[in-house]
Amino acid sequence: PVEQRVEDLLSRMTRAEKVGQMLQLDARADLEDVVLTRLAGSVLHTSPERLPRAMDMAAGTRLGIPLIVAEDCIHGHAFWPGATVFPTQLALACSWDPELAEQCARVTAVEAAATGIHWVFSPVLCITRDLRWGRVGETFGEDPFLISELGAAMIRGYQGSGLRDSTAVLACAKHFAGYSETQGGRDASEADISPRKLRSWFLPPFERAVQEGCRTFMLGYQAIDGVPVTANTWLLHDVLKEEWGFTGTLVTDWDNVGRMVWEQKVCADRTEAATVAVTSGNDMVMATPSFFEGALDALERGLLAEADIDAAVRRILRLKFELGLFENPRRPDVERQAQVIGAAPHSALNLRVARRSLVLLRNDGTLPLDGGLTPGADGRAEATDTVGRTIAVIGPNADDCQAMLGDWAGDSGQVDWMPDGHPRESVETVLDGFRAVVPQGWTVNHARGADIASLQPDPEGPLFPDGQPRPPVLTPAAPDPELIAEAVAAAQAADHVVAVVGDEMSLVGEGCSTATLELVGGQIALLEALVATGTPVTVVLANSKPAVLPRAALDAAAVIQAFNPGMRGGRAIAELVLGLIEPTGRLPLSVPRHVGQQPVYYNGLRGQHGTRYADLTQDPQFAFGEGLSYTTVDYSGLVLHTPTVDQDGVVRAEVTVTNTGNRPALETVQAYVSDQVTSVTWADRELKAFRQVPLAPGESTTVEIEVPAASCTLVTAAGHRTVEPGVFSLLVGSSSRTRDLLGAEFRITPGA
Ligand code: IFM
Repeated sequence: PVEQRVEDLLSRMTRAEKVGQMLQLDARADLEDVVLTRLAGSVLHTSPERLPRAMDMAAGTRLGIPLIVAEDCIHGHAFWPGATVFPTQLALACSWDPELAEQCARVTAVEAAATGIHWVFSPVLCITRDLRWGRVGETFGEDPFLISELGAAMIRGYQGSGLRDSTAVLACAKHFAGYSETQGGRDASEADISPRKLRSWFLPPFERAVQEGCRTFMLGYQAIDGVPVTANTWLLHDVLKEEWGFTGTLVTDWDNVGRMVWEQKVCADRTEAATVAVTSGNDMVMATPSFFEGALDALERGLLAEADIDAAVRRILRLKFELGLFENPRRPDVERQAQVIGAAPHSALNLRVARRSLVLLRNDGTLPLDGGLTPGADGRAEATDTVGRTIAVIGPNADDCQAMLGDWAGDSGQVDWMPDGHPRESVETVLDGFRAVVPQGWTVNHARGADIASLQPDPEGPLFPDGQPRPPVLTPAAPDPELIAEAVAAAQAADHVVAVVGDEMSLVGEGCSTATLELVGGQIALLEALVATGTPVTVVLANSKPAVLPRAALDAAAVIQAFNPGMRGGRAIAELVLGLIEPTGRLPLSVPRHVGQQPVYYNGLRGQHGTRYADLTQDPQFAFGEGLSYTTVDYSGLVLHTPTVDQDGVVRAEVTVTNTGNRPALETVQAYVSDQVTSVTWADRELKAFRQVPLAPGESTTVEIEVPAASCTLVTAAGHRTVEPGVFSLLVGSSSRTRDLLGAEFRITPGA
């Protein structure tokens, strides 16, 4: 019946109504123009005040076709005051836990659906390459398999038990594809990337999203080898639709169609841009109002056939029927919002995820403080003795809500239409966290210590169309002797310093990449001064993406990588320092020693003679998969049950993991495969499986590992993904580093 209803409606639509359905317009604009003049089929970036009005207007149009309402919601419904804001994707990826990712997405769907949102622009399946790119924090890191596992889980969480379920929202795999292959880390720069390279690393998470039933895909901004993705029929049609069988709906990124005229200059005018967009396979056109006039003109002049428009409109109407919007337009539901927005179980999940997203990178034994405290009934730690300690929580991100929330949340640039952002009391900063959990009788001091940067007008910045202001330029703050002196005094008076440093929103996000990866502003001078006091310092990195650590951080007692850990992140950090919880996070990307090592991902190609610069190793500071526990875990007895398998078989092995310390562990057992001889240069090792195992102190257990032989592929010179029979190594251990892995050989034989 859905197909019949689609055809029936389509047959009654005028050309203008059809073209309008293909438009997704900014709901912050004049709604009369959006809904009544251009007849937009979808809006994004709405607000509680404007959405009901927009929906009423759509209901009053000739055919009353309901709007489909989209929002970014990439780590929670982060634009809604009081809604649950989870750790960013990168922080969540540190948990290596697809089950948690699914739960986060489910909660986001429930909260978003209550506010009238039908479609979230998540998950981001871009693979991190150059860390200077401003959107690294939106990704799941650098490994296609880990990205695929976590991305698939989020898709399941968003789309729930089926689109008819009123808590289901459409997922959107983005940004298809190769968007993160930047030049020098600059956002949306031309991707110098061959089809083979795309297939090798960038496409697998998207193919997995199709298999998972992801209903929509969003395009990247960039061009690949001269062809904007918006015009790339090979990618949109041949690969996505024909080869992978994707039957869902495509949406462009922001003004991609306009950009083909004013930015990429591959189309002469809006008519040509509309023609190219439609014939290349796009369905919904985001934030290009002139697509309306352009497509109508192209139809009029016979440049576009109505059948081309019909095909796109069918895919949009299908979504609306499948969501049941004609029967129930899923308006914002104030009563439901009161029940679900920021609900206690959601907040509890958020704290669980934040705890799992913290990665302990360094520890000289100082942590957990006092050998580890135990939680009391009220969640506050219980002291081991009666001597109160003093903790100095210092740094520009120590009491900063935005540093907990990260991008696409709160008051970050993208949400200026909701200036109230998140109420201060709904976010626990690191300072809040310590105040809430230290034992009675302990003292928590605070000093800012340094500023990061400020934005200044840039008279030489690029000009954008429509009179948009020139983007401001970043000015790093100079170290401030007064702020540092205050911080040093606080550190000297304390038993322990927690220094919370990192980046801020002016340094991250869309269109906002950095040339360096150092801690900006007065932060390095601050860390040097704090370490020099002799009071033990734990450095907490509250940043959207990895920083190059200065000597002072590497000399500190401990380093915790928190990224942007969400609304409850501050509490989780305090709990970790005090030993109320265990460190369990593992890095989903490699952390460089120097910006000049970019790119430094673990799965680079073999055969790069000279793996070091004359002046620097190419070894990262911290490798993919690394992360410490408060205990030690020993790996032994790797046994391969299947020394030989055919291509349809499963490689089975076991390994024994033993907790050799006196604290519990949640060990992430990682299995990599190395194809020993390949017809083309290939990554030396690739993650193929992982399992998480709880281990009590002293406990030993055997972990079964399974790797389908069919996953031990490479992409041939001709661009085909295939298994090349031969000898492989299975590498099992606690990180991607050779020293952390046990190995055993197996052989894959050709199939029957
Ligand atoms: O969803 C985003 C995308 O990731 C970047 N450009 C804008 C879109 C809508 O906000």
